Parts: sequence; C-alpha cells; structure tokens
Amino acid sequence: MVLTQKLNISIQFWHKEDCIFATQIKKQNMSTVAEKNSNTAHYIALEDKYGAHNYHPLPVVLEKGKGVHVWDVDGKQYFDFLSAYSAVNQGHCHPKIIGALQEQANTLTLTSRAFYSAQLGPFEEYIANYFGFDKVLPMNSGAEAVETAIKICRKWGYEKKGIEENRGKIIVCENNFHGRTTTIISFSNDEVARKNFGPYTDGFIRIPYNDLDALAHVLKDNDVAGFLVEPIQGEAGVFVPDEGFLSGAQKLCNQANVLFIADEVQTGVARTGKLLAVDYENVKPDVLILGKALSGGVYPVSAVLANNGIMEVIKPGQHGSTFGGNPLAAKVAMAALDVIKEENLAENAYRLGEIFRSKIQELVDSSDLLLQVRGKGLLNALLINDTEDSSTAWDICVALKNNGLLAKPTHGNIIRFAPPLVITEQELLECIAIIKKTIESFK
Ligand SMILES: Cc1ncc(COP(=O)(O)O)c(C=O)c1O
Repeated sequence: MVLTQKLNISIQFWHKEDCIFATQIKKQNMSTVAEKNSNTAHYIALEDKYGAHNYHPLPVVLEKGKGVHVWDVDGKQYFDFLSAYSAVNQGHCHPKIIGALQEQANTLTLTSRAFYSAQLGPFEEYIANYFGFDKVLPMNSGAEAVETAIKICRKWGYEKKGIEENRGKIIVCENNFHGRTTTIISFSNDEVARKNFGPYTDGFIRIPYNDLDALAHVLKDNDVAGFLVEPIQGEAGVFVPDEGFLSGAQKLCNQANVLFIADEVQTGVARTGKLLAVDYENVKPDVLILGKALSGGVYPVSAVLANNGIMEVIKPGQHGSTFGGNPLAAKVAMAALDVIKEENLAENAYRLGEIFRSKIQELVDSSDLLLQVRGKGLLNALLINDTEDSSTAWDICVALKNNGLLAKPTHGNIIRFAPPLVITEQELLECIAIIKKTIESFK
C-alpha cells in the first residue's frame, strides 16, 4: 500500500509536463502494477527520482533476456517485439556473441587508437568485405556514425567535388530520424526533439520523403554534397517508400555528383528481410551507416563504410573516438555479423515478415480499430484508427504487455512490431494470436 502510494506520487511528478503519458501510465499503474507488483514499483520509482526524464517507458521492469524473450523483475515472461529498437536482431544474449565478448574481455578491452591493435585490422577487413566497401570508420552509437558520415560528406564536397568552403549542403527528408546530437536535430522537423536546443547547424535542405521530383529539383544546386536518407523511415512509423525511390534517388545523385548516404542504423543487418534494405533495389550507397544490430545489442558499435575515393578525405586528427574500434567492439561485431549469416536471419525475417503482414492484414480487415499494417521483413507497423494525440496506441501496448508481448507506440497512433530475427514461425504465430486477442478486447 505504501509502495502503491509512492508510485502514484512519483508518476505524477515523472510526467508532470506530459499530460498524455502521465494519464496513460497512471491508469495502467492503478489497474495492474501497483496492485500486485511491488518490485516494479520500486525500480520505476528509482528511475523517476534519480534519472533524467528523457524517455517515457512502458511500466515494465526487465531484468533478463534470452532469444526472443525477456523477463521482468517478478519473473513474468514476454516476447520482445521492439528488440531494443532493432539492436537485438540476433536475439537477447546470443551465446556466440556473449562468448566473443567474454573471451575478449579477459584479454584486452581498450587500447588507445594511438597504437595498432590485433583486433582492429581483422575487424576492418571482415566488415569491409562483408558489406562490399574498401574501408570502414568504426564508432559507437548510431548518431555518432551519422555525424561521421556528415563530416566525411562535407569534406568530400570541398576536397573532391570542389564546393567552395563552408557552402556545402546535404539534402535530408521530412520526418527523418538520424539521432539526437545538436547537428542531427538541426535538420529534424520533430519539434519535440528540436525545441529550445538551438542555435542549429546550417547546411541542410529538407525535402519530402519518397519524392524524386523534389530531389531532382534541389540537386540542381551545385553546392549539394550529399543526400542522407533512411531506406525505410523507422522512427517516423515504418514508412516504406515506393518501389523505385531508392534506385531513382541513387541515379539522380550519381548524375549530380552527389553522395548517396544510406542510414541503415535501424533497417540494416537483416532487419527488413535483406542484409540491407537498399538491397531490395540493388542500390549500393556511396556511404553506408550502420549501428544497433552490428553488435547484436551486446555492446555499442557503429560504423561508416565507403570506398577509398571518399574515405581518404579523413586524415589523422580529423575524426575519432576513444572507444571507436576498440578490441571488444571488434570481436563482438564480427561474432554478431557471423550469426546473421550462419542462422540465415535475413531469410527468416523475409519469410516471417510475409506471414506477419498477411495475418495482421486479416485483423485489419476485420477491425474498425485498425487502419493498416505495413513494413518489410520483421520491421512492421500497425496504424491505429484514432487521432494522433489519443492514447489508444499506448493503451493497446499496455494491454499487449499484460498479455505477454512488449511493443511501443512510435509517432502518434502507430505501433512498431520488430521482434528479434531468431523468432520461429511457431513463436510468431503465438505472438500474432496475442495481438489478435488484445485488439479484439478493445472492441
Ligand atoms: C535510422 C537511425 N539513425 C540513427 C539512429 C541513432 O542511433 P543511436 O540511438 O544509436 O544514436 C537511429 C536510432 O533509432 C535510427 O533509427
């Protein structure tokens, strides 16, 4: 009872500037958490009190993961349908990746990049060959890799294309999500991510996503050095562009001598049913950005890949990171990429994605609550038939949680479904049954 009261107080404080979520969480708190789940209340209260409130999690506290499953602090098992925003494509705590981590952790974890390491060269060779590029620049987070690509692109623009210094521009898309650094939010149109973080970085042109005419128009500007694009816009709600957009964009960029930069931080590493989402259109980006599942969610590893003519613009001292390319990251990433191929995870994502969308489409056809299911491979979204500011998607996610499946609304009334790619057909069918039962309970 005391804990129940404590949780109610903390939740009011936690989201005092975010009425929708405060109400949603409070509602769910009263109906489930506080009545029977004191461990959950304890951990939520700690995060509330001592952590910055920069996320609004579902009220579930996880402490263990294995494959497609995670367990909360009271031992309840769930299917993980978010996979740490597509970082855990290989499944939680994959034994091969954890084995590589443990072995390397006992040998050497970090060297300064002032010295060579016996792990970095082999990793660079491995990943360059794996994705078919001459060179890689390893970093840690996805946002860092995007920043890296922006710097490489600008420098290439000045030193190779001949753009006058400080005039270089990069084209980006409406509703993009490339991370949260100051430069990246400068070209976002998400007011939540941007407001009161200015002054912003100049040098970006925003065009509508999936619009080749708009791209062709802005490419007339000779100061443009690059086009930065997500092959599917994940955070925006799994927007899949029309077939031909990516190949058309690449062609236009080539004609204009502009770098085509694919941000595959979320879509890459088998998530969409191919190794890369651009593979659907046989597009080879000039610059490829990867993160998340590059390590199977075991350790932060990101990378930018490009051929020599582009990567050679970076010279000593011009870019880097203490942890970028460290021995632990190198070993973990190689194991994680091995797993993708050894377990045919792209093929599995492709096949199970087809099943998922066709079964959920039947549900969409039979329910007024649902508008559409869309996606590729195992990166999918369900559009809820309600206003953007309603709590319906959130309420459905809370009900899904209670039924043993964890998913989270992304923008507005859109629920993203992205399980680990090691999920089996039988498990997927079980999950579809949970989703069906949950949606039907809202009728
Ligand atoms: C397409 C894309 N780029 C970049 C990022 C940023 O990655 P990180 O959160 O590791 O900085 C994300 C994260 O969701 C992403 O989806």
